[in-house]
Amino acid sequence: TTPLRLGIAGLGTVGTGVVKIVRQKANLLAERAGRPVVITAVSARSRDKDRGVNIKDYAWEDDPVALAQRDDVDVFVELMGGSDGPAKAATKAAIAAGKDVVTANKALLAHHGQALAEAAEAAGKVIRFEAAVAGGIPVIKALTEGLAGNEITRVMGVMNGTCNYILTRMQSAGLPYAEVFEEANQLGYLEADPTLDVGGIDAGHKLSLLAAIAFGTQVDFDAVELEGIERITIDDIHQAADMGYRIKLLGVAQQTGRGLEQRMSPCLVPDTSPLGQLEGGTNMCVLEGDAVEQIVLRGPGAGEGPTASAVMGDVMDIARGFRLPTFGQPATSLAKAKSAHSVTP
Ligand code: NDP
Ligand code: HSE
Repeated sequence: TTPLRLGIAGLGTVGTGVVKIVRQKANLLAERAGRPVVITAVSARSRDKDRGVNIKDYAWEDDPVALAQRDDVDVFVELMGGSDGPAKAATKAAIAAGKDVVTANKALLAHHGQALAEAAEAAGKVIRFEAAVAGGIPVIKALTEGLAGNEITRVMGVMNGTCNYILTRMQSAGLPYAEVFEEANQLGYLEADPTLDVGGIDAGHKLSLLAAIAFGTQVDFDAVELEGIERITIDDIHQAADMGYRIKLLGVAQQTGRGLEQRMSPCLVPDTSPLGQLEGGTNMCVLEGDAVEQIVLRGPGAGEGPTASAVMGDVMDIARGFRLPTFGQPATSLAKAKSAHSVTP
C-alpha cells in the first residue's frame, strides 16, 4: 500500500507533539488508515535545537516553501503560526504544488482561509484545520460529520483558554486583572502578542472559522464584533457572582433575519450552567441544530498532546480519503453597529 507522506513545517509545541504521535503509534495509525502514515521531511528555524524527539530520520529543509514543494511530500502540515510570512507563503506553495494541507493556524485561516480554501478546491486538494478551533475538541468534525443532518441554528463557545484562566482565577482568588495577567504571563500561557488573547482576537479568529463551517458561508473575520477582557474588573466579577452569574469571554454565531451575527465578547452566564462551570484553560463549544437541539463539547483548547491530537485527526481523514470541501457561500454579515446584544446562552 502507498504510504501517506507528511512534510512538517514547525517543530515547536504542536509540531513535536505530531512527530511523537506519528513515531510512537505507527502501527495503530497504519491499521486505522489502511496505509502507513510517515514523515518524510521537516522544517524549523533552528536545525540544532534539542526538541526531545528524534528528527534525524527525516530530510531537513531550512525553507518551509521548499519543504512544501518536495516531491516526497503528500500533505504539508503547517505548524509555524503567524497570519502572514512563511506560513502563508508555504501554504500557498504547497497548494500550487498539488499538496493537501493540514494546519493549526487560526490567524492564517481567519485572514486568508477563504482564498486558500478556494485555491485548494480549484486544485482538487483539501485544507483541514481541526486544531485551529478549540484545540483538542473535534468541533469541526462534529459539525461537518455528526451534525450533517441538521440546520445549525447557533454555535457558541469559550475558545480562548488564557482568557478563561484569567477570568476564573480573578473569581476564585479575588485578584485584580493586572495581577492575574502577570501570573498567566509567568506561566507561559500568553501568546507572544498577548493582545491576541486578552483582546479577544484569537477567539474571534476561531469563531469566524466555526461560523463559516456551521452556516456554510465564507470566512468573514472582519465582520466579527470583538471585545476583549482587558476592562473587566474584580468588581464586575463580584457583582456578577452576587447575581448568580460568571463572566466568560463568549463567542456566539447565529443567523438572524438581518444576516450572520458573529460576536466575541465578555458575557454573563449563569454560574450553574456548563459554560459557567468551565474552569481554567479549558474550552467549551455549544452547538445547536434543529434536530439535535443542543450538544456541549468540553476539553483542552491548547497544549502539545491535545493540539497534536486534532492535527492527527485531519491527517487520518486525508489518509482514509475523506475529502470534504471547506467553506461555502458569501454571507450577509450583520453590520457591527447593528449587532444585537440580547443573545443569552
Ligand atoms: P511554537 O512557537 O512552539 O513553534 C513554532 C515552530 O515554527 C518552531 O519550531 C519554529 O522553529 C518554527 N518556525 C517559526 N518560523 C519559522 C520559519 N520562518 N521557518 C521555519 N520554521 C519556523 O508554536 P506552537 O507549536 O505553539 O503553534 C504552532 C501553531 O499551532 C500556531 O499556528 C498556533 O496558533 C497553533 N496552535 C497552537 C496551540 C498550542 O497549544 N500551542 C493550540 C492551538 C493552535 P524553531 O523551533 O527552530 O524556533
Ligand atoms: N492562546 C490560545 C488560548 C492558544 O489561550 O486558547 C490555543 O489556541
